[in-house]
Amino acid sequence: MDLEDVAWLDGPDGRAALAAATAYDEDAHARAAAGDPTAVDPLRAATALRRARADLTPARAAAVLTQVRLRRRARPRLGDLTARLLLTEDGLEQATRPVVADLRARRYAAAGAAHLADLGCGLGLDSAAFARAGLRVTAVERDPVVAALAARNVAELGLAHLVTVVVGDATDPKTLGAVLDDVDAAYVDPARRDPSIRHEGRARRVADPESWSPPWSWVERLAARVPRTAAKVAPGVPHELTPEGGCATWTSVDGALVEAELAWPALTEPGVRRAAVVVRSDADAPTVERSAVDLADEDAPPVGVVGSWLLEPDDAVIRAGLVAQVAQRVDGRLLDPRVAYVTTDRDVDVAPLATRFRVATALPYGLTALRAALVAANVGHVVVKKRAIGVDPDDVRRRLALPRAPGSAVVLLTRIGADPWAFVCAVQPGA
Ligand SMILES: C[S@@+](CC[C@H](N)C(=O)[O-])C[C@H]1O[C@@H](n2cnc3c(N)ncnc32)[C@H](O)[C@@H]1O
Repeated sequence: MDLEDVAWLDGPDGRAALAAATAYDEDAHARAAAGDPTAVDPLRAATALRRARADLTPARAAAVLTQVRLRRRARPRLGDLTARLLLTEDGLEQATRPVVADLRARRYAAAGAAHLADLGCGLGLDSAAFARAGLRVTAVERDPVVAALAARNVAELGLAHLVTVVVGDATDPKTLGAVLDDVDAAYVDPARRDPSIRHEGRARRVADPESWSPPWSWVERLAARVPRTAAKVAPGVPHELTPEGGCATWTSVDGALVEAELAWPALTEPGVRRAAVVVRSDADAPTVERSAVDLADEDAPPVGVVGSWLLEPDDAVIRAGLVAQVAQRVDGRLLDPRVAYVTTDRDVDVAPLATRFRVATALPYGLTALRAALVAANVGHVVVKKRAIGVDPDDVRRRLALPRAPGSAVVLLTRIGADPWAFVCAVQPGA
């Protein structure tokens, strides 16, 4: 995509072509959902668009079809905003989910930020959230096409009056100096992918924080100039990168770990060093678990035998190192010091920080013994889950080959020390 494509896609002719291709795509997916396996076919979509819009050059038809494909892929992640955005492949992979961006933006607003520099704004999803929270935003993006898309996206969302997009390299002292002159907060979502190395069409992830763009040492220098600074980072970020007096937060959405964030003290609640934010789309507000101590100073949870309940902590809780806190809340213990299954005899629900299962049977794991236990319990249908054990749950379920029976169960497979164990649990979490 180039700047001309962006201008055309944003103009009346491009919008009409995109609307026609989207209508065709939606119809095709409706037919596919109704059982027509040939309905969704990129070649047919291209032919249909050519027929409807014979005037389009192949390049423009391709630009339209790419947007339709990207929007379809974006919908689960970007939700209702998707239909109003223009996207790129790499931009979509890196875009922050609006639900998470809005939570962050509200924290900046609560900390008194009024004008924020979004340094490396990508397609503008975070900038838009900051503007929705009432902040003015100066967004810097070094890729001119991505910058044009960001400007177009915030305008489409009705936020252009709050967001100025600047094309430039944020690490260039002149560009940065001009931007920082007038802001009281900064946010960086460094590019953590290398577009020159692709695997299955996706840019390869870069693990070393010094190889992110901008690099981590640059972000630290920025925070020394702008106290209200936070950065979005990969969930695998080491705890040691947490700024002195700041907070590391891991966020999950509907059970999937989506990001981590490192915030400097001016954006940190007093005394909070680690947090897990667990977002559920069926809940009005996220559930937040916080700790005032560094992971290295955390007391190890007790270890003991299985009780009446097994709890599977959310991934954000695990990455934030808060399993011990969750265990404490339920007066629980771990089955194994290195495996994040908590067990307790107390009937306490801490959802969504952990999903709990009522244990019916515990046995050393072997396929034959497990099958016998399930058959004896009249279980004909199982969901198999596992942690810290080298089995494929689908394969186990298939090989169990349970005879028809009315009962259902969840089977949790794990190891205790070196020994594999199976826990047969009631099917409803919390039941
Ligand atoms: C992870 S993406 C940002 C995504 C954005 N937060 C969103 O939710 O849409 C990082 C962006 O930073 C840009 N970038 C990387 N290094 C930069 C630099 N030195 N100056 C300006 N932009 C930069 C990249 O081009 C990329 O678009």
